[in-house]
Amino acid sequence: MIENLKGAAAVVTGAAQGLGYAIAQAYAREGMRLALLDVLEDKLQRVAAELAGAGADCLPIAVDLADAAATERAIHQALERFGAPRVLVHNAALLIQRSMLEITLADWQREVNIILQAAFILSKAVWEPMIRAGGGSIVYLSSGSGIKGFVKEVAYCPAKHGQEGLMKVLALEGQPFNIAVNTITPGAPIHTPMSESNYTDEQKRDWVDPALLTPAFVFLARQDASGVTGQRLNAWELSQSLGSAG
Ligand SMILES: NC(=O)c1ccc[n+]([C@@H]2O[C@H](COP(=O)([O-])OP(=O)(O)OC[C@H]3O[C@@H](n4cnc5c(N)ncnc54)[C@H](O)[C@@H]3O)[C@@H](O)[C@H]2O)c1
Repeated sequence: MIENLKGAAAVVTGAAQGLGYAIAQAYAREGMRLALLDVLEDKLQRVAAELAGAGADCLPIAVDLADAAATERAIHQALERFGAPRVLVHNAALLIQRSMLEITLADWQREVNIILQAAFILSKAVWEPMIRAGGGSIVYLSSGSGIKGFVKEVAYCPAKHGQEGLMKVLALEGQPFNIAVNTITPGAPIHTPMSESNYTDEQKRDWVDPALLTPAFVFLARQDASGVTGQRLNAWELSQSLGSAG
């Protein structure tokens, strides 16, 4: 476990907007060096310019995480610049609500690849560097859809379930190498572009700024296998408890 994150490297996917952007801002405030991955190139450049303007050492990498070869190139670019990350947060995801009758194989593969295939590729790429560095922390963004089924989530649900399974295996395999692997669910309705498209009006009444969830991600960046690992965490509850503890 490390207390001071200043100068440590983080890789955050889906950092151009929403929760990933809030996590990147929180890590920048800790003085971390940041590799930020997203498919929305213009937005990502603006985020990187804003964080760099505030003093962060920041590398924006435009990449479609549904594309295996492009994902490998992107994470190797991050590793070349910063070395082993202290934390990898795979936050990017796509949720397109389609029923079994509506969805095509290509649609299904795209969502699954962004969520699950990219989790594997990114984790595989940082695994040996983290071992050589003496440890690290890997985090996948989970959801209620990681443990339950929802209508019209034919791709999203199984992909999020798959991340839970990958986490459980890697937490065991990471133990001797001091690598923590966890999933984390927001735990509260969050005001993000994904929620704009998918929430009901009722859910939108109670949504919160994703910045309120970021203490949980700072906590996770400090972890290794001597701390919290193999868990499915709740970002809202953890952030609240860290806030009241601090
Ligand atoms: N919004 C919610 O209520 C909610 C609930 C449960 C879980 N989550 C999870 O939290 C995470 C963040 O959600 P959010 O609400 O901020 O979503 P969002 O859609 O607002 O942001 C997701 C980011 O991922 C990026 N992304 C999508 N496809 C990509 C691709 N092919 N390549 C690279 N980047 C890509 C997007 O461009 C975007 O910047 C996701 O994993 C999501 O599944 C969100």
